[in-house]
Amino acid sequence: MMNAEGIFKYYEKDLRRVEDEIARIFSSDVVAIPDIGRHLIGGGGKRLRPMYLLMSAALSGYRGDGRYVFAGVIEAIHAASLLHDDVVDGAGVRRGKPTSHSIWGTQVVILVGDYLYANSLRMAVSQQNLKTMDAISYAVAKMSEGEILQLQKIADPEITEEDYVRIVESKTGALISASCKIGAILGGLPEEKINAMASYGLKSGTVFQIYDDILDFKANEENLGKKLGRDLHEGKITLPLIYLLKSANAHERDELTAIIDSTSDEDMPDEDGQIERNLKKVLTLFKKYDVIEKTMDKAKKIVAEAKAELSVFDDCKEKDALIIMAEYALSRNK
Ligand code: FPP
Ligand code: MG
Repeated sequence: MMNAEGIFKYYEKDLRRVEDEIARIFSSDVVAIPDIGRHLIGGGGKRLRPMYLLMSAALSGYRGDGRYVFAGVIEAIHAASLLHDDVVDGAGVRRGKPTSHSIWGTQVVILVGDYLYANSLRMAVSQQNLKTMDAISYAVAKMSEGEILQLQKIADPEITEEDYVRIVESKTGALISASCKIGAILGGLPEEKINAMASYGLKSGTVFQIYDDILDFKANEENLGKKLGRDLHEGKITLPLIYLLKSANAHERDELTAIIDSTSDEDMPDEDGQIERNLKKVLTLFKKYDVIEKTMDKAKKIVAEAKAELSVFDDCKEKDALIIMAEYALSRNK
């Protein structure tokens, strides 16, 4: 019986080929570029998007080297977007390390992001396949929209579940969707299957982000030192908080609105642990209204939809692997 760990292991060799492609995109004699590459990419990461692309290519019957190139392209675009995102979010830490902009400065880091994005496109163009270029540029346009919409909804307690889903589908779903779609394009599949694969990716990516947003409020054994409530601190109102705002009584809602309001004043002084107390309050209310369970139910529903998209494909081990990946989104610890 296969599990997610087995799948990652199975793709280890392929992922090493992808690493070479990523390094190629980061290469430059302007040393800040490969330096930032090593700092950001060398530090690990799940290579989730390359995995999706390789798995989709496998299901689509494509075995050419182009899959490594595109998997590298997608991961490098992801890296570029993280560089920009950390600047936008004012984030000090990523994957337990100081963010690149806190070391190299925002100016350099924004431009390295631009370089990576452009260089990724050059690598993609070398494959001479317009449909894949369409998938990539569409995804990056969506990601930018998602980030902008998210900014506009910062600390807005009126944000709806629909707004949230749109943000998450755009900022995270879109690139995973493109990864899956490109695998199917490379395999030369008919439109119907290409679109099914794109929808599967969109939904899987959405679930990954929803679960990320849940994990932001959850401590676990492996990661006891983890700082909780970062999203709340950044004024990001994610699905658990949206559900809580819906369930809370008038008094609690006022308290929550005050907490959300306080996140928008930039350098909120943490007067005698106010931030910690706010988070505690939110977590207590989560328990009272079963908010995490409700959020998980929503995520599980989307996992089921993702799996259903695969029904246009015949049963095979490559399809099973994608089904397991969709479920894995909700079982990880980090
Ligand atoms: C992380 O979200 C950010 C994204 C998933 C997308 C960022 C996209 C852009 C900045 C636009 C595209 C730009 C380029 C150059 C391609 P998060 O802040 O919720 O997650 P985090 O906790 O990992 O920071
Ligand atoms: Mg961020």
